[in-house]
Amino acid sequence: MEKIAILASGTGTNAERIIRYFAEQKTAEVAVVITNKAQAGVVERAGRLGIPAVYLTGEAFEGGELMRVLDRYGVGFVVLAGFLKKVPDAVLQAYPDRIVNIHPALLPKFGGKGMYGNRVHEAVLAAGEAISGITIHYINEHYDEGGVIYQATCPVLPEDTPDTLAQRVHSLEYACYPRVIEDLVLGRELSL
Ligand code: GRF
Repeated sequence: MEKIAILASGTGTNAERIIRYFAEQKTAEVAVVITNKAQAGVVERAGRLGIPAVYLTGEAFEGGELMRVLDRYGVGFVVLAGFLKKVPDAVLQAYPDRIVNIHPALLPKFGGKGMYGNRVHEAVLAAGEAISGITIHYINEHYDEGGVIYQATCPVLPEDTPDTLAQRVHSLEYACYPRVIEDLVLGRELSL
């Protein structure tokens, strides 16, 4: 069974959904959660769900430790879920088309360095967009520029705040990301 690593820097609500999904489906296995923030909520979530969590300092990360952890856990597929560091080139080369990310808006708009969390939703609201959504995409050496795999949309309502919009987008993420990951891991057509 393919082993998945989840890279996350934050709360880890997506990571939790992905872990629970594969624990139930048993079509792949989340083998490890890797974080660059020792205090991130995702560490506690992984512990609660029985998944090992590995914390890498910035230095360890730059020094090639990520590749070693992926090797140690026999990882064949890498999922970014709110991970704020750039993935080192060596890892990108070792996992061609096997590293994916989710962005909480419709790329190519509202992406790039520094565009994460509520900043994305604030920008969507400030631009007066009527529609937002999610983008699941491959990772390459530029932030948010890898090939798009899947997008789903949701409305932006006139009374939305960044938080209410974030909630709607999060629901879409939970519904779609585990299933898209599963299709990619199994090498089948997208089922959504
Ligand atoms: C998600 O909105 C995801 O799109 C973005 O970071 C956020 C992570 O949230 N890349 P969480 O930690 O999964 O709650």
